[in-house]
Amino acid sequence: MNHLTGLSRLSADSITGLLDTAAGFKQTLRSPNASFSPTLKNRRIALVFFENSTRTRFSFEIAARNLGAGTLGFSAASSSVSKGETLSDTIKNLEAMQVDAFVLRHPSSGSAKLISRITPKPVINAGDGSNEHPTQALLDMFTLREHFGSLKGLKVTIIGDVLHSRVARSNIYGLLRAGAEVGLCGPVTLIPPDAEKLGVRLFTDLDRAIAWADTAIVLRLQLERASGTYLPSLEEYSRHYGLTDERLERTGKHLLVLHPGPINREIEISNHVADRIQPPGYSKSMLLEQVTNGIAIRMAVLETLLGGTP
Ligand code: CP
Repeated sequence: MNHLTGLSRLSADSITGLLDTAAGFKQTLRSPNASFSPTLKNRRIALVFFENSTRTRFSFEIAARNLGAGTLGFSAASSSVSKGETLSDTIKNLEAMQVDAFVLRHPSSGSAKLISRITPKPVINAGDGSNEHPTQALLDMFTLREHFGSLKGLKVTIIGDVLHSRVARSNIYGLLRAGAEVGLCGPVTLIPPDAEKLGVRLFTDLDRAIAWADTAIVLRLQLERASGTYLPSLEEYSRHYGLTDERLERTGKHLLVLHPGPINREIEISNHVADRIQPPGYSKSMLLEQVTNGIAIRMAVLETLLGGTP
């Protein structure tokens, strides 16, 4: 593995290897005086973010520092991109400054793949348009594997704006490869037209999707990517596809609930469902556990791509 641009072609063995490596890091992260071997000492990792981020950017920064690497922050607004410099030129110039790896977030689908073809340095996709967000899917899979013990045969329903979701796409590829079953549930206009070909189950009725599933990944309604798409009103969306206690009570099913964040509270997920981590027997939110797991997964990805002698 030279780059991580997506999960669509990553083998089951590579996915398992990354989850196992992350499990080792998570154990150390849990210990009170966590300290890691600086296996990436003297390495420089450029965090090249053309879109905003809280979780992905900071957890990559923490992951890199845990392994002894230095990070270089980049934001499009304060760089020469604002003067018209291209993405390729930006990457080639950073490469000339002896950067050892690129973590790229960009609004264009395919941008991480494009960059991986122009630089010999490892490229990690931190989200490209509505295409893929592989480290988010890996941390979701890690969270599910840690809770259920295995992904094989697990029924995962992905709820909401699947059409615009790079998280959904990476999770579909990764979860299916790992032997899970995947259901998609949302308004017809927010389900990709080619979804059936992906090997997933399709639901338009949320109660049925919940009745089928062991766990739910709830997605953010991405209004910023939705121009040209027919959307229900927020009230309609919330009534039909919002995950609430009332709905879970009605279906008699309490699920493990994941969401990649950021969340639109009381639209796709109610406050109660988003925040409840106990008591047992009710739905359980994994939202903050996912964020912690993101550090372990990103350490595993950096270590796998950059570990060893520079
Ligand atoms: N889940 C996720 O990608 O969050 P950020 O946009 O905050 O990085």
